[in-house]
Amino acid sequence: MTIIAHISDTHFDGGGRALARARQTMAFLRGCNLDVILVTGDLADHGTVEEYDEVKAELVADIPVLMLPGNHDDRSAYRKILLDGDGAAPINQLKRAGGLLFALCDSTIPGEDEGLLAPETLDWLEGVLGAAQEPVFVALHHHPIRLNNPLLDGIRLRNPEDLAAVLQASSTPRAVFCGHAHAAAAGTFAGLPLIAAPGIFSTTRLPWTTTDELAWANTFDRDDVPGVVFHVVEGGELTSHFRSIGN
Ligand SMILES: [Fe+2]
Ligand SMILES: [Fe+2]
Repeated sequence: MTIIAHISDTHFDGGGRALARARQTMAFLRGCNLDVILVTGDLADHGTVEEYDEVKAELVADIPVLMLPGNHDDRSAYRKILLDGDGAAPINQLKRAGGLLFALCDSTIPGEDEGLLAPETLDWLEGVLGAAQEPVFVALHHHPIRLNNPLLDGIRLRNPEDLAAVLQASSTPRAVFCGHAHAAAAGTFAGLPLIAAPGIFSTTRLPWTTTDELAWANTFDRDDVPGVVFHVVEGGELTSHFRSIGN
């Protein structure tokens, strides 16, 4: 059995509230019996070197902590601090952790909030899935399906059909994990489970939970507590448990 703690959207911004919520989250996770921690992007809020110094210092555990970039991240600063490298190409990584294979895809478009899997990322993923001899868990920041908040849906993955084609061409993908929506949600995509992690920094409101018209100014609930999804993989089965991380 492998237990993955899936969190997202820490939005480190130089201390304060983001740091406190990330610390609260990581303290809770370090007290759990886990195999892998997965953070699906928007690690930093502005993509500065100083923010990645925080990421590097805080998102640590004695088990593997897998990360990928989101629209608030900056590839160059991310590489410099977290990967000890340089360059602005997509950050795509194949990782083995907890006995499982993870394809961590970069769905960002530099300077934009919307997501896109570039041709080189799609080619890379196709190669990874084709070569794998076991189930692969695919992760990216942007959600490829509607999650019913019109604002967030306006900045979801722009080319879900390209991702679906790559996933459906192989028998190895087992599930798709994403972030970006700051909302715990589950659906299906390309015949696979699709699970979005809740946001550590904030939670997005759903249109039917408020009489106000949703706008960027009111869509993020900053009072809601952080949350985590525990993905349990056992004997080829995936079960996902959604939990709040208390005050
Ligand atoms: Fe975010
Ligand atoms: Fe995002």
